[in-house]
Amino acid sequence: MVGLGPKHPPSRKGSMHDVPQNLLQQIKDFEERFTVDQATLKKIVAHFVKELEKGLTVEGGNIPMNVTWVLGFPDGNEQGTFLALDMGGTNLRVCEITLTDAKGAFDITQSKYKMPEELRTGTAEELWEYIADCLQQFIEFHHEDENLTKLPLGFTFSYPATQDYIDHGVLQRWTKGFDIDGVEGEDVVPPLEAILKKRGLPIKVAALINDTTGTLIASSYTDSDMKIGCIFGTGVNAAYMEDVGSVPKLAHMGLPADMPVAINCEYGAFDNERIVLPLTKYDEIIDRDSPRPGQQAFEKMTAGLYLGEIFRLALVDILDSHPGLIFKEQDTSKLRKPYLLDASFLANIEEDPYENLTESLELFERELNIRPTQPELEMVRRLAELIGTRAARLSACGVAAICTKKNIESCHVGADGSVFTKYPHFKARGAQALREILDWAPEEKDKVTIMAAEDGSGVGAALIAALTLKRVKAGNLAGIRNMDDMKTLL
Ligand code: BGC
Repeated sequence: MVGLGPKHPPSRKGSMHDVPQNLLQQIKDFEERFTVDQATLKKIVAHFVKELEKGLTVEGGNIPMNVTWVLGFPDGNEQGTFLALDMGGTNLRVCEITLTDAKGAFDITQSKYKMPEELRTGTAEELWEYIADCLQQFIEFHHEDENLTKLPLGFTFSYPATQDYIDHGVLQRWTKGFDIDGVEGEDVVPPLEAILKKRGLPIKVAALINDTTGTLIASSYTDSDMKIGCIFGTGVNAAYMEDVGSVPKLAHMGLPADMPVAINCEYGAFDNERIVLPLTKYDEIIDRDSPRPGQQAFEKMTAGLYLGEIFRLALVDILDSHPGLIFKEQDTSKLRKPYLLDASFLANIEEDPYENLTESLELFERELNIRPTQPELEMVRRLAELIGTRAARLSACGVAAICTKKNIESCHVGADGSVFTKYPHFKARGAQALREILDWAPEEKDKVTIMAAEDGSGVGAALIAALTLKRVKAGNLAGIRNMDDMKTLL
């Protein structure tokens, strides 16, 4: 294996002495399937760079490279009170953010609502009703008996959307396991505004935002070295600032070539053509059985939504292809349930501090009704480590590709999402992969550093709404659907 420097996170390879030969063979097979070496990383990044370029052309490619109409970074003087609605993969969050006089400062009030699982595959009407319920509850609770004027809303809708204007977004396709009929191909702003109007809520969408763009803008607000905003969570994606002149698909608009515009890459769709990604048979099954086969190839190998399922499929594979080899005479029926395990299951195994893996044993008993033997525990630990490491190393490819495309030698990358914040060793493994891809000398410090971001879908959304209103005030029409409408928010 390449690059096992002193910074490389610990591996349990050394604790395998008590594992019988036939299990060792399984581990070896998994190692072959899931290890992504330096040469492969480099090959992936080279293809990734080309695909990012392609997405910016008129013809387009796998990676959508969506224009966001966020035209530049905040300067710290943004002010005002904004609502932010964050429709991520798991929760719905409503925030009220006041950007205060002090440069770069803000106050925030927020409420979180659990998105009911059924909503993911329900109807569009149920979705909008639920969102309106949350907004209404928030307003009633925090502004009881107040006579509110219209509040500008930054709506963080973290799915690929084509934006002709900043307050417009046609859903290209659902991702992250969502499958709600009648939304794909439609602008999501009008149905939201219609329901807000019906309920008499004084709210107007000022900007539709992706979580990555929000992360980029919020992070750059406090750190001017931030050049990329990333999410490593239920889904994966990144945004960065491009010059209009480097976006051929914007050429027809006659905008100044040096005008900055944030691009929401939507690179979860990288390599849908399956040219370079080292797919395993488990990745193939995940794709085949997903609501959108053939889509989000890169995301399905790296995002939190899928890590537990990859692990489960690998274990089921041993059960089926080598009956009696593992979990002998145990009831394995629970393990047969798709998506029973989430990424936290792997994270907990990787975090087990005990040499005899007692916590992993308890986890298996509790969640799966299975009592693995000690060698089996060693094997599942190694499997979790391999899947987590692969996700981190592949994730680094997206960041490296943007840096390469933009000739960025050193920068900060603002990152958020459950995998980044909670999965053990994800950061160190990603940093190690960046080092291997970008060929830093051993004595050199990390030049591209992926670090925890500011709250993109809260503060970032408010900042983008503020930047939009600033443009409206200045009469900069680019990417504004209806100037008069927007002026009602000033
Ligand atoms: C979505 C992106 C989003 C990412 C992270 C992906 O599935 O398509 O819009 O940024 O997840 O939330």
